[in-house]
Amino acid sequence: MAATGKDIDQAAAILQMGGLVAIPTETVYGLAANAFDGEAVVKIFAAKNRPAFDPLITHVADTDQLAPLVSHMPAAARQLMQAFWPGPLTLVLPKTHLMNDLVTSGLPTAAFRQPRHPLLQQLLSILDFPLVAPSANPFGYVSPTTPQHVEAQLGDKIDYILDGGPCQIGVESTIVGFEGEQPVVLRLGGLPVEDIEQVAGAVKVKPHSTSRPQAPGMLESHYAPQACRVVVGDLAHLIKKYRQHKIGILSFSRKYPDYPNFVLSERGDLNEAASRLFSALRWFDRQQLAYLLAEPVPDTGLGRAINDRLRRAAT
Ligand code: TXA
Ligand code: MG
Repeated sequence: MAATGKDIDQAAAILQMGGLVAIPTETVYGLAANAFDGEAVVKIFAAKNRPAFDPLITHVADTDQLAPLVSHMPAAARQLMQAFWPGPLTLVLPKTHLMNDLVTSGLPTAAFRQPRHPLLQQLLSILDFPLVAPSANPFGYVSPTTPQHVEAQLGDKIDYILDGGPCQIGVESTIVGFEGEQPVVLRLGGLPVEDIEQVAGAVKVKPHSTSRPQAPGMLESHYAPQACRVVVGDLAHLIKKYRQHKIGILSFSRKYPDYPNFVLSERGDLNEAASRLFSALRWFDRQQLAYLLAEPVPDTGLGRAINDRLRRAAT
């Protein structure tokens, strides 16, 4: 069991001594360590069973803390930061020597984000270092959106869980990298592509790099429940095909009372659906099913990130 509470002084003290603290963000819970402390960073990889080739996101208090860590700032990056920080947007930027190679898996770039959760903002403001934090789940599993999710999976491996309540957005941040000066979406997430395009113009979206991924967390079979196979498609069709097995139904807004069923948003709201998605996947994991049948949601706004996670859960 990890101690859990809202004590940012205790969280800060643990981080200063090189310990691990689970932190709330507006997207998902993170597993945080001092970005400048190599030994602490190594503990994150060990606790998550995460391969060393999968780099971490560095969470900064503000753009002043970011400046010395970045060697070149594309104009579009500056515009996106102004428009969406603090918030669910991670930017991949060329790094300076101050960024530890353990954090970036030896890449010449590093991923940065200024989070919006008030408790985490307070914590960052009293620390004199940024926090690296991957999602606080074992590698390959669904990200946690409540302190209870963190406790259930990593409670014995971390020193403290900072309780910021359930995450408001519920899917991970959108990751944007740059090809030259041109922004490219590397992971669909909590900031809709439409919002990015309003600021930066049309952007390329290429989150499905599977062979040599630019964002290794984007390997297939990520975000998968472990106890059943996930199939995504038209529910009427899938129910016909799989009904002789033990099935559960993940639906967008319609109810399926004949089966174990989780409705993402009865009022058909994509933001609500995103905030409930990972809890839904965890719930199905406990239902002892052979197959989880899921339907895609409308492919706009946060719907794109939801469909992306469903597709990955299905591989
Ligand atoms: O919402 C979020 O982003 C959450 C919260 C805790 O901030 N964090 C999160 O971290 O989702 P993680 O480690 O689960 O995913 C980070 C992703 C990984 O897929 C990693 O490969 C990618 O960021 N990444 C990190 N540095 C990168 C880099 N230099 N170039 C490309 N991708 C990078
Ligand atoms: Mg993750």
